[in-house]
Amino acid sequence: MAMKKNVQDIINKQINAELYSAYLYLAMAAWCQSENLTGMAHWLKVQAKEETGHAMRFYKHLEDRGADIKLAAIDAPPARWNSVLAAFAEAYKHEQKVTGMIYGMVDLAAKEKDHATASMLKWFVDEQVEEEAQTLDIVNKLKMAGESKGALLYLDKALAKREG
Ligand code: FEO
Repeated sequence: MAMKKNVQDIINKQINAELYSAYLYLAMAAWCQSENLTGMAHWLKVQAKEETGHAMRFYKHLEDRGADIKLAAIDAPPARWNSVLAAFAEAYKHEQKVTGMIYGMVDLAAKEKDHATASMLKWFVDEQVEEEAQTLDIVNKLKMAGESKGALLYLDKALAKREG
């Protein structure tokens, strides 16, 4: 069934948002690297790659449905943060925003009776639970670490182990 224009538009917008997420996490990775936090930089680079994967899932859905793919300019992310906690708090806030966008898409797909899009979005609803949980976990651990350099380095080492 042909995809409605408003559904196409919202998916194209989400491709841009996911690529911005990749940009944001790459910027955070570069900043962490400049702070000698190589484990955190690694974790963020893996996350950036995941975000590109999210964009490609939406891209493929448009492709499979014979819909128009329209790529817009990607905003520049910030380049530095006041602290690692500030960076990861922003990541968590960003994921909450993305969850809201996904929910908005679910609502539109339901309104337009686009069952194929609704089905595709189920994966994202589940993924966002994980995305929020992961970033919140890091925020909470950074809060626990407080001013302790030792705890920060321990967390950096743990995040270096992320696969991907
Ligand atoms: Fe693509 Fe982090 O949500």
